[in-house]
Amino acid sequence: MPTITTPEGQSFIVEAGKRLVLALEDNGVDVLHRCGGHARCTTCRVQFSDGEPTQMTVAERDRLADGGLFGQVRLSCQIPCDHDMTLSFINRLRENTFDDAGHRPDDAITPEPQWVKRPY
Ligand code: FES
Repeated sequence: MPTITTPEGQSFIVEAGKRLVLALEDNGVDVLHRCGGHARCTTCRVQFSDGEPTQMTVAERDRLADGGLFGQVRLSCQIPCDHDMTLSFINRLRENTFDDAGHRPDDAITPEPQWVKRPY
């Protein structure tokens, strides 16, 4: 089972294949997911220091490119937990003015993922 590690020293073991955004939330991280996990808002973005996935969904690639964020961050709603990862959070509910984190994303990645190799 994969281990997720944070810069704050948090470390938790998560169910293999679980969406990263849900793995974070279910382990007490107040990660934002304002669009409900559909690769639209980028509020779920994280920054990897180790274990960045080598694949990404087309939806993630296109959204990050549109927002000028490609190569800098990843969208936790578009990443399955299939290996160990070390990452930091960009947006947390307690550091924002939103009333809530957003609708809970579905268990499966949405939109239906089309996988491409990360080009860097
Ligand atoms: S892009 Fe909106 S929750 Fe991931």
